Amino acid sequence: MGEVSQINAIEFYCGIGGTHFALKGKGVEYTLTHALSSVFPGLSKPINVIAAFDINTTTNSIYKCNFPATKLYQNNIQGLSAASLDKFDAQLWTMSPPCQPFTLKGNLKGKEDRRCDSFKALLASLDEMKRAPRWIFIENVSNFYSTSMHSILIETLNSVGYEIEEYILSPVQFGIPNSRPRYYLMASRKEGRVEYHSHLYHSIEGVGEFEASKIEDYLSNNEEIEYLPSVKIEQNNISIVESSAITSSCFTKSYTQYLVGCGSYLRDSKGIRPFSPREVASLMSFPYSFSWPEHITHKQVYRALGNSVNVAVVSKLLERLLQV
Ligand SMILES: C[S@@+](CC[C@H](N)C(=O)[O-])C[C@H]1O[C@@H](n2cnc3c(N)ncnc32)[C@H](O)[C@@H]1O
Repeated sequence: MGEVSQINAIEFYCGIGGTHFALKGKGVEYTLTHALSSVFPGLSKPINVIAAFDINTTTNSIYKCNFPATKLYQNNIQGLSAASLDKFDAQLWTMSPPCQPFTLKGNLKGKEDRRCDSFKALLASLDEMKRAPRWIFIENVSNFYSTSMHSILIETLNSVGYEIEEYILSPVQFGIPNSRPRYYLMASRKEGRVEYHSHLYHSIEGVGEFEASKIEDYLSNNEEIEYLPSVKIEQNNISIVESSAITSSCFTKSYTQYLVGCGSYLRDSKGIRPFSPREVASLMSFPYSFSWPEHITHKQVYRALGNSVNVAVVSKLLERLLQV
């Protein structure tokens, strides 16, 4: 398979477009300004996201606000046929399928969970397609690696002829003060069936050590944020960080709805407060330009970000996948 000058991509389960920012090499200004300069140069090839799919109306309105020119389909992915997917003739597919089937809160039902149906359907299409994508990028929770759905994924990709690299990476490894360990799979299509060599990487080859940046580098000082009442703090085992910290806990979709296990809170001279949606976005390496429509509430932004990706980590992986 030869050199390509432009890559056409489809973004499945696009959410608010964290992967789209990564494909554009955006979202790394924070990282670039703080500590990691020159390590995230962005992708060298122009990438054109020709279609994005998601059923969620809230995240779709945020996506449209950030990528108005991208054709966004508010469709159930399960209904896409191999023939309709062939028509896009995309060289790259990116996917962040729902993670609930692989989490304790979602009862760990794996492939038996109906929320896996669309992912299974997409994988089945690969086998039937005449123009299957040359590259596939998948993101999910770390636990995905040890599930029955992972076995289906690997078997399908290998039988269609994809060589696979698998990772578990967290932004803290890249000097970003936020923990978000996630499973990533990168697949490149070869000719004929390939064998699977199970190996889970915990770093990216050729990508060296990073100087840690601090929480204070990601704060915005001009936002009104409510501080926590002290009674709540005393009663709970909340993750609290100071501005000098070099890590914070993973922000989930329930951040601020539940105090424990959904992300860190910041202690400053005035008390303890949640990170603002803008600050959470920054800790997840979203660019300064990331925005949302006025009717979207803070709770909705936290929820959407909690389901999203760290843009800088995804960007770094895509850079490796697409080097041809
Ligand atoms: C883990 S989130 C993906 C987040 C995304 N990477 C981002 O940056 O925001 C999974 C997304 O899949 C969407 N989704 C789940 N099932 C779907 C289906 N059958 N068809 C289309 N979208 C679906 C959800 O609405 C959700 O936005």
